[in-house]
Amino acid sequence: MTLAELAERPQEKEASRTRRLKAATRVAHERIDQRIMAADPFADRERYGLFLMLQYVFHRDLDCLFFDERLDMMLPDLAGRRRLLLIERDFADLGLAMPRIDAPPMLSGDSAVDIAEALGWLYVVEGSNLGAAFLLKDAGRLGLGETFGARHLAGAPEGRGLHWRTFTAALDAIPLTEDQECRAIAGAEAAFRRVHQIAGELFA
Ligand code: HEM
Repeated sequence: MTLAELAERPQEKEASRTRRLKAATRVAHERIDQRIMAADPFADRERYGLFLMLQYVFHRDLDCLFFDERLDMMLPDLAGRRRLLLIERDFADLGLAMPRIDAPPMLSGDSAVDIAEALGWLYVVEGSNLGAAFLLKDAGRLGLGETFGARHLAGAPEGRGLHWRTFTAALDAIPLTEDQECRAIAGAEAAFRRVHQIAGELFA
């Protein structure tokens, strides 16, 4: 798709890259929000375990991005934003077995990952930490919190908002060609598609 074609789409009118990514994935986000909440993940710890599994599979799929030196040069505190280990600790807190997955992660090996698409994936996983504030409150009803069972939903020490704005300021400032811009959006769309796929399998 060319930029001229993209200009026909509402998201292209948005001022910043982050806003364009948000506009492009608004419907996908609404759908996943509804899908997850419909699965009642905070009804009990067993249901929460399914949600934790969704988070695990998704974060495992993109984990290699947090070790990518090219991305590390573009984005602040990339390694510190990784939440897979916290998800693993949440499983341990709850005495739940880690899922055994034979398939390789969806993204693997930095040479195979297109850098612009990777930015779209990272936008999605970082953004999901904003909504996590609401999920953390719900998790509290099950006796879970940022030091037990719901560690991966915690905000950053400097505050969720600031942590997000530091990320988006850097993301918005990266020079991308028109083609890369489109691929960043494609990456964010692919990330949401993947979350939908996992939710479909787990919450069937
Ligand atoms: C794994 C599933 C999810 C993913 C990948 C995801 C992704 C995202 C992304 C990318 C953003 C940032 C949007 C932006 O401002 O550019 C966001 C924000 C948000 N999400 Fe989610 N989300 C998920 C699940 C949920 C669920 C289940 C809820 C329901 C409570 C939710 C509620 C929110 C809210 C309220 C915000 C906006 C927070 C704010 O602007 O302060 N999200 N999410």
